[in-house]
Amino acid sequence: MAREIGRVGVVGLGTMGAGITEVLARNGLSVVAVDVDDEGIARGRGHLEHSTSRAVAKSKMDEPAREKLLGSVSYTTTLADLADCDLVIEAIPEQLELKARVFNELDGIVGPDTILASNTSSLSVTEIGVHTGRPGKIVGMHFFNPAPVLKLVEVVRTVVTEQDVVDDVVAFAQRLGKEPVVIGDRAGFIANALLFGYLNHAVAMYESRYATREDLDAAMRFGCGYPMGPLALLDLIGLDTAYEILETMYAQSRNRLHAPSPMLKQMITAGLLGRKSGRGFYTYDASESPTVV
Ligand code: 3HC
Repeated sequence: MAREIGRVGVVGLGTMGAGITEVLARNGLSVVAVDVDDEGIARGRGHLEHSTSRAVAKSKMDEPAREKLLGSVSYTTTLADLADCDLVIEAIPEQLELKARVFNELDGIVGPDTILASNTSSLSVTEIGVHTGRPGKIVGMHFFNPAPVLKLVEVVRTVVTEQDVVDDVVAFAQRLGKEPVVIGDRAGFIANALLFGYLNHAVAMYESRYATREDLDAAMRFGCGYPMGPLALLDLIGLDTAYEILETMYAQSRNRLHAPSPMLKQMITAGLLGRKSGRGFYTYDASESPTVV
C-alpha cells in the first residue's frame, strides 16, 4: 500500500530548499523546515513571505490563503524536530561529508518507513545512502531552479532503492504538480548531463571573446526559444554550484565538454557568483533584474 505523505521535512533553506518548501506549502502539506542557524531560517522564511506576497499582489492568492500557507510551515534549527515526518528532502550544500553526516543523523531520528530524499544535483545518491541503516529508502529528488516554476523532478533510484519507495516518490511528485522522470545514479542524471556541456561551451565562447554575453544569450533565446540565455542561466544557477556540477561530471566521465572553463573559477574566486552575490556575468539590483555593468 502506498505511503500517506502528509508531513514533510526540508533540510537546508538555500535557493533550492526554500523553493521546495514553497512547492510543498502551496500543495497543502505540513512542512518542517530546518536550517543550521537563525540567519538561514530568516532567509527561508523571507523567501516564502516575499513569494506569497507577490502572488497576493498579482491576485493569484488571497490574504487568508497566504496566512494559511505561511502557517503550514514551522522552522527549526533542530533535526530532531523531523521525527514525525513521512518524507524528508535534504537540500544542503553539495558536500558529500556534510550530506553523509545529516543522513546518518536523520536515520536515527525518523520512523523506520520514512523516505529520505536528497536534492543533490551531482553527488552519488548511493554514497549518501550507505551512511544510513536504510539504503533501500534513500532516493534522489532533484528539483530545478526556480522550484516553484519548473515542473521537472528527477527521481534518482540507486541499485538498492526499493520499488515501492520509487513509486511513492513518483506519485508524490505528481501530487505536487510536477513531471517526474526516473533515472539511475549517474552524475548529472539526465538534465544536467545534457545542459552543463552547453553552458560550459557558452563560457568558453565568452572567454575567448568569440561573442558578447548579450549576443550569446540573445542567440539562444531568439534562435532556439530558450527562456533565458546560457550566461543569464549560469547567474541564476550560481557559478559556484555550476562549477561543482561540472567538476563532478568531469571526474566521472572525463568528457572534456565538462572540464570547467577557467573563467568560471576566476569569477568564483573574485566573488562573482551570479544573482546570489549581486554579480556574475551580469550585475543585479535588489529586484534581481539584470543590468549592464
Ligand atoms: N520563485 C518563485 N516563483 C518564481 C521565481 C522564483 N525564484 N522566479 C520566477 N517565478 C515566477 C514568477 O512569479 C512568475 O509567476 P506567475 O506566472 O504566477 O506570475 C513566473 O515565475 C514567471 O516569472 P517572470 O515573469 O518574472 O519571468 P520569466 O517569465 O522570464 O521567467 C524563469 C523566469 C522562470 C526563471 C524563466 O526564465 C526560466 O524558466 N528560465 C530557465 C530556468 C532554468 O533553465 N532552470 C534550470 C536550471 S538547472 C537546475 O536548476 C539544476 C540544478 O541542479 C542546478
